[in-house]
Amino acid sequence: MILLDGKDLATQIKAEIKTEVDEIRGRGGNIPHLAAIIVGDNPASESYVKNKVKYSDEVGFESTVIKKDANISEEELLEIVNGLNQNSDVDGFIVQLPLPRHIDPDKVTLAIDPKKDVDGFHPYNFGSMAQGMEAYLPATPYGILLMLERYQIETEGKKVLVLGRSNIVGTPIGILLSRKGNPGNATVTIAHSRTKNLDDLLAESDIIIAAIGRASFVKANQIKEGAVVIDVGINRVEDSSKKRGYRLVGDVDFIDVSSKASYLTPVPGGVGPMTVTALMLNTLKASKVKGNG
Ligand code: GUN
Repeated sequence: MILLDGKDLATQIKAEIKTEVDEIRGRGGNIPHLAAIIVGDNPASESYVKNKVKYSDEVGFESTVIKKDANISEEELLEIVNGLNQNSDVDGFIVQLPLPRHIDPDKVTLAIDPKKDVDGFHPYNFGSMAQGMEAYLPATPYGILLMLERYQIETEGKKVLVLGRSNIVGTPIGILLSRKGNPGNATVTIAHSRTKNLDDLLAESDIIIAAIGRASFVKANQIKEGAVVIDVGINRVEDSSKKRGYRLVGDVDFIDVSSKASYLTPVPGGVGPMTVTALMLNTLKASKVKGNG
């Protein structure tokens, strides 16, 4: 089994981005600036945003975090989004999800200027992506594509099974891998909670992408010998041997599946770092669109 080392790959790509940013800085160009809005005290969201800021610093970007209490009104949040849309200093921004229940995430996503939507969540970007037009790709699917590309994993004609149909992972990666291109040209099935013949689908798939949020769900006895397995899940399971009381595991039973897969991502250190890298690439692109980048 070959480990798909997202951490190592992210380090390589970050170095490439930093070289480019140094060159931009050297000629007095526009330094990429990423902003993130975080609402409430969700510990997972806080840790994701912290990582995004850390990566931004490492590649030489500017970054701004706007942190608001969970009781912020929808209107107030929309005003902040609008402010970032208008702020010519900010090239791209994200609103970390999930949001508190009283705020409609669709309304917020629709309020983001598609030109600054470096998460690729706005329907303008999603629709452009689906039609193969220029778009900011959503970060996790983009990170998976980068991983497949750099590890030279062939997708053409392969049977791909995506577990999960979320707007931010399952559905877009399914679209991207079925489109013409490399990576792409695959035959994709998207499975979800109502899928009936999951065991048959798992057994016949060359590439499995698990994004369902269920700890250690995929087992070795379900997959084909030599399958490529990409684990998007990040689940907390209680572990009293750890200081923090839990450990992170993916949607795939890593140790079990490692005996049968040809390529496998670890959790943590697989798709996670690639997601943040993809966000950096989108932000770099946004800063160039603005000019003198
Ligand atoms: N919550 C979980 N993943 C993501 C992501 O990629 N972007 C944002 N904004 N929120 C998330």
